[in-house]
Amino acid sequence: MKALGSDLVLAGEDVLRYCRDWHGDVTTGAVAVLRPRSTEDVAAAVKACVDLGLSVVPQGGNTGLVLGATPDQPESQVVISLERMTRVRRIDPDDFSAVVEAGCILSEFKDAVAKEGMFFPLALGAQGSCRIGGNVSTNAGGINVLRYGMTRELVLGLEVVLPDGSIFNGLSTLRKDNRGIDLKQLFIGAEGTLGIITAVSVKLMPEPEQVATALLGLNSLNDAIALYRRARRDCCDLMSAFEFMPPLAFVLAREAMPDLMMPIDADYPAYVLMEMSGSGLVDIDDLMERFLETVMEEGVVADGVIATSSNQSRSLWLFREGMNEGQAKRGPHLRTDISVPLSRLADFVRDAEAAVLEVVPDCINVSYGHVGDGNVHLNVLPPSDLSPEESAERIYKAKKAINGVLDRYEGSISAEHGIGRLKRSDYEERLPDVRRKLLTSLKAAIDPAFIMNPGCQLNFGGNS
Ligand code: FAD
Ligand code: LAC
Ligand code: ZN
Repeated sequence: MKALGSDLVLAGEDVLRYCRDWHGDVTTGAVAVLRPRSTEDVAAAVKACVDLGLSVVPQGGNTGLVLGATPDQPESQVVISLERMTRVRRIDPDDFSAVVEAGCILSEFKDAVAKEGMFFPLALGAQGSCRIGGNVSTNAGGINVLRYGMTRELVLGLEVVLPDGSIFNGLSTLRKDNRGIDLKQLFIGAEGTLGIITAVSVKLMPEPEQVATALLGLNSLNDAIALYRRARRDCCDLMSAFEFMPPLAFVLAREAMPDLMMPIDADYPAYVLMEMSGSGLVDIDDLMERFLETVMEEGVVADGVIATSSNQSRSLWLFREGMNEGQAKRGPHLRTDISVPLSRLADFVRDAEAAVLEVVPDCINVSYGHVGDGNVHLNVLPPSDLSPEESAERIYKAKKAINGVLDRYEGSISAEHGIGRLKRSDYEERLPDVRRKLLTSLKAAIDPAFIMNPGCQLNFGGNS
């Protein structure tokens, strides 16, 4: 490890901040934290770990919600943080593409491409801290998926340091390339179990010059889903976000950000934050106004406000972002990340919320999220005055109840956050034999010494 030079290596107390998850629920430790400055440094760091018989936990912004980026075996794991590899290597507006290092913070990359009149559509609440390599490794979703797809759909190529320290250079920006199996796909969503992503080539879009944002009050989740379907049909695919929130969202957001002003007077059982955007000759404000006029006349939407400035739009989005912080402030709680077919979403939420209240009647359900993608975060908040053991028991019971309903609906326990270490046993319990066999063969072929992120996603054997 010393051969890497002291500049790259952190040890002792200094490692702890890399060993704590975003919520601060779990703090562990590591043999060391390595902070490479280049792809060659990453390769040398991986080789050093192999030589010493240590395993590697890659880390980006450490905003992941499933304990994938923090070690669980402090005596044998080394964190490799990409935080120093932040360079935007190239922005090519003519090619609608860019190449960026894995440690670049998402919002900084978005700002850099915006300076060139371009747009990178991945958008999530953690974008001020998460890093591109982490986004690719989790195949992050976020609020714009309904129009632009998950991260996977935005990636054109990858540069990856493999578990033997060799470098896979696949940083092409070709849009169409069917030369056999597309190897980059293996690393997208692998959560660091097959290699360390060091750089990414991505698609860019023209920057939307017009953005219209509306906060709408509705009478039910069913109405929200009807509205979504209607907007998909009527708005020429110009809808870029459609987020569902319960009334509690406003309470939670204001617990985290007390200065937020309530944008709608009356209380409704359901809210939707909807955005349309475009560039060039279309008139987005007109489209939003005409669409809302129709759906309000029809009674699908009960009430609403359209932001009249980008500041107002920003403050509407703060409710959506603030509700996560508000939940975190209430202490340990169950966070889920579920998808079911859109046509079954409202029934699923009804059944799962009822199942939760049956087993933990003193808890509060908070169902919200990317409803257009059939993706709901059905979170469960235990009362704040419980002991840690009592909260943990509520969380466990609620999770079992939700997953029981989810299995009946044939949904996914991870729509966008990944498996990490937190969901490993729930994932393993549901993994069909053929799929497990394929995953195990793949792991053994690429990482035969099982050094990459052991304990994350699956227990493959070896060190894990
Ligand atoms: P990390 O947490 O550092 O790592 C995540 C995983 O990827 C780990 O397994 C890690 O080992 C691996 N990894 C990291 N970098 C690399 C690399 N370079 N090479 C190989 N493996 C690597 N997620 C969504 O999908 N949608 C949302 O809307 C969303 N909203 C969020 C809001 C908040 C407030 C917070 C805190 C989180 C949210 N997340 C969301 C979760 C999280 O932000 C995403 O999963 C994000 O993509 C993680 O990026 P990161 O850089 O923080 O990765
Ligand atoms: C969100 C995160 C939790 O959608 O995925 O807010
Ligand atoms: Zn989400």
